[in-house]
Amino acid sequence: MMGVQGSSIVVVLGLLLNVAVLCNGGKTSTFVRKVEKTVDMPLDSDVFQAPPGYNAPQQVHITQGDLVGKAVIVSWVTVDEPGSSTVLYWSENSKQKKQAKGKFVTYRFYNYTSGYIHHSTIRNLKFNTKYYYEVGIGNTTRQFWFITPPESGPDVPYTFGLIGDLGQSYDSNRTLTHYEKNTQKGETVLFVGDLSYADNYPNHDNVRWDTWGRFVERSVAYQPWIWTAGNHEIDFAPELGETKPFKPYTHRYHVPYKASESTQPFWYSIKRASAYIIVLASYSAYGKYTPQYKWLEEELPKVNRTETPWLIVLMHSPWYNSYNYHYMEGETMRVMYEPWFVKYKVDVVFAGHVHAYERSERVSNIAYNVVNGICTPIKDQSAPVYITIGDGGNLEGLATNMTEPQPDYSAYREASFGHAIFDIKNRTHAYYSWHRNQDGFSVEADTLWFFNRYWHQIDDSKIG
Ligand SMILES: *[C@@H]1O[C@H](CO)[C@@H](O)[C@H](O)[C@H]1NC(C)=O
Ligand SMILES: *[C@@H]1O[C@H](CO)[C@@H](O)[C@H](O)[C@H]1NC(C)=O
Ligand SMILES: *[C@@H]1O[C@H](CO)[C@@H](O)[C@H](O)[C@H]1NC(C)=O
Ligand SMILES: *[C@@H]1O[C@H](CO)[C@@H](O)[C@H](O)[C@H]1NC(C)=O
Ligand SMILES: *[C@@H]1O[C@H](CO)[C@@H](O)[C@H](O)[C@H]1NC(C)=O
Ligand SMILES: *[C@@H]1O[C@H](CO)[C@@H](O)[C@H](O)[C@H]1NC(C)=O
Ligand SMILES: [Fe+2]
Repeated sequence: MMGVQGSSIVVVLGLLLNVAVLCNGGKTSTFVRKVEKTVDMPLDSDVFQAPPGYNAPQQVHITQGDLVGKAVIVSWVTVDEPGSSTVLYWSENSKQKKQAKGKFVTYRFYNYTSGYIHHSTIRNLKFNTKYYYEVGIGNTTRQFWFITPPESGPDVPYTFGLIGDLGQSYDSNRTLTHYEKNTQKGETVLFVGDLSYADNYPNHDNVRWDTWGRFVERSVAYQPWIWTAGNHEIDFAPELGETKPFKPYTHRYHVPYKASESTQPFWYSIKRASAYIIVLASYSAYGKYTPQYKWLEEELPKVNRTETPWLIVLMHSPWYNSYNYHYMEGETMRVMYEPWFVKYKVDVVFAGHVHAYERSERVSNIAYNVVNGICTPIKDQSAPVYITIGDGGNLEGLATNMTEPQPDYSAYREASFGHAIFDIKNRTHAYYSWHRNQDGFSVEADTLWFFNRYWHQIDDSKIG
């Protein structure tokens, strides 16, 4: 309970904390959380307050702007007038200010009209350098900073945070606070989809996209969040006359998809330090002959494990999920792509969607051919570890109902909100930890040493 403040929600801890129950599979934690419904923070909450001043830039957020990490996309919203889409920026060691020009867009959704949404890409940055940047005009400019990643190389350490299905409840705020206060400092967030949950409001009230943008600014204005599209980004509402999927999401969140030769912002890849990150789209076509399929087929052989040993995949809907929520929703994509993940030795797959935590063993299930009956996942040292981290804390609440008994492939599962850290040490080792949003800031509820699939081809099941 340390560090949890500012909320009137009563949190009831179960008496049995984290006791392992042995069954067929791994461990099902019996950590029991509060009984109440997860509720959103009201509109007048401190975290939603607009910055003061006429036309002050708000909802400032950054993400990687190219393939290698030398560019940053800066986005923000102004509400009174367009103002300027130019970002001023300068490195820590230089007083010389440079400019990156951008553009703004607006959109309408049913009877909502957006503010002026600015996107500006800063290019040709130096690696591993702190930059300050400024947006806004006149008396209401705002300054932020970010640090570019080191140039890619096999032994470059780098620390990623993992957050999914965040929403804007009191628990969302706790998860973000825990991430910020974790002593293992995340340098970039890999976000596995479902951002604002605005679509749960009447008419998909897009005001909740704005509040979410203001809520997370305190992190995403200073470090890039790498975006994955979830089902709550679809905003498909023919009953409201809104038939263009992903309209609010694509207007507000830009990603560098063209840099990896993708044709749509829903699937793309980036290199960052020693990691190669492939973002896939659970809600875009992925069958054979589709643009996403062709792209992934050509993308995987391009990954140079000498330059970027760590091959990480993000998607929204998990392939290996033993909760009774969204059960088997990821199955059709698994059937299409799993053989490639084994062939190319993906290290880890992070997904969201299920509002709980789960980590798999290294397993694959690729032998089945319709007639042979071989359809059970098997331990496979070339296969990735699958981690479901859809437990940011959104208003829909926790997934608590699990399939029983726990399947063999499931190593650890727990119905709690939280975030994770993937801390790359060098080409062979990465330290992974998952943190409940209810413990002390650095309490580790689940941990695993990752041995790189390409550089460390030993059977890590024997290491224990
Ligand atoms: C959200 O968390 C921050 C940081 O812990 C805190 O200052 C703020 O009061 C919280 N707001 C709400 C509405 O819980
Ligand atoms: C949009 O319409 C709903 C009712 O359909 C109404 O409650 C809301 O105030 C309207 N919002 C705007 C911005 O007009
Ligand atoms: C800035 O603020 C001063 C004092 O309030 C005001 O006189 C001036 O017009 C403002 N400038 C702009 C560009 O808004
Ligand atoms: C892979 O990357 C390494 C290190 O940057 C480089 O020396 C090598 O030429 C690359 N291999 C290919 C096939 O591009
Ligand atoms: C859990 O899910 C199963 C399968 O959907 C359902 O039959 C069962 O009633 C659920 N249990 C509870 C307690 O909701
Ligand atoms: C890689 O990191 C691990 C964990 O910190 C360490 O034990 C190992 O010696 C490192 N390997 C090399 C080659 O430095
Ligand atoms: Fe989802």
